[in-house]
Amino acid sequence: MKLTVLFENHAGYKKGLIGYHGFSVLVEHRGRRVLVDTGSDGEVLLRNMRALGILPENVDEVFITHGHYDHTGGLKAFLEARGNGVDIHTHPGIFQRRVALKPRWREIGIPFTREELETLGARFHPSAEPTEFLPGFIGSGEIERRHWDRAVGYLVEDGDTTKDPVKDDTALIVDLGNDIAVITGCGHSGILNIAEHAAKLTGKPIKTIIGGFHLRGAEEGLLREVVEGLNSLGVEKLYAGHCTGIKEYAYLKSRLGNVEPLHVGKVIEV
Ligand SMILES: [Fe+2]
Ligand SMILES: [Fe+2]
Repeated sequence: MKLTVLFENHAGYKKGLIGYHGFSVLVEHRGRRVLVDTGSDGEVLLRNMRALGILPENVDEVFITHGHYDHTGGLKAFLEARGNGVDIHTHPGIFQRRVALKPRWREIGIPFTREELETLGARFHPSAEPTEFLPGFIGSGEIERRHWDRAVGYLVEDGDTTKDPVKDDTALIVDLGNDIAVITGCGHSGILNIAEHAAKLTGKPIKTIIGGFHLRGAEEGLLREVVEGLNSLGVEKLYAGHCTGIKEYAYLKSRLGNVEPLHVGKVIEV
């Protein structure tokens, strides 16, 4: 498996790449190329893709981890640039209207309607169940929450505002043969729940977890549980970025050792 980071909060390692809040990676495996998430901004996504020599028309299929704007905001520009239909695998909940209340009221859901994306060629395959949509590419389906989760924001429905459990938060599992790689978007389901779900679903050990771990602001007790949990699952290596948090990243790095940060343009070969 080869993974290239296209959109991430951090850049600066190579000229011409832009760091911006959001997440998107290209996963190449068994001859297929899957775009995971699209970052928060189409212009930044397309610019980074071009700078890395990746053309929208060369992507085979798309996987969206959840409906937040920082993972879906580049989808429209990607479809327009591609000018051709594409299959999109995701959870049925991504189109819910969602807002944040702090530090100010703002929309944080997908900034497009399903219809406008379909007009541009999006073919959605929503499923809350695990699905192997291409050989070796498995959508996790909804993740059972046995430990704490890291949900954020509120759902707006019929004028009511209720806490958003971010049920649509799923992960991409890449089957490497003897083990698996797990790609998280924001990790709202809780990184331990995601890891246990992926291991149980496939019956294989986790070689690596790559993505956002959503630990920013987490208390030390929770971080300790992450370290113990990932150790007991035997996860070999972490690549943590996006919403992981700098202090929290440092904690994981100091306790686990085998942790690397993400930045736009980083290539990971497993
Ligand atoms: Fe998110
Ligand atoms: Fe995010």
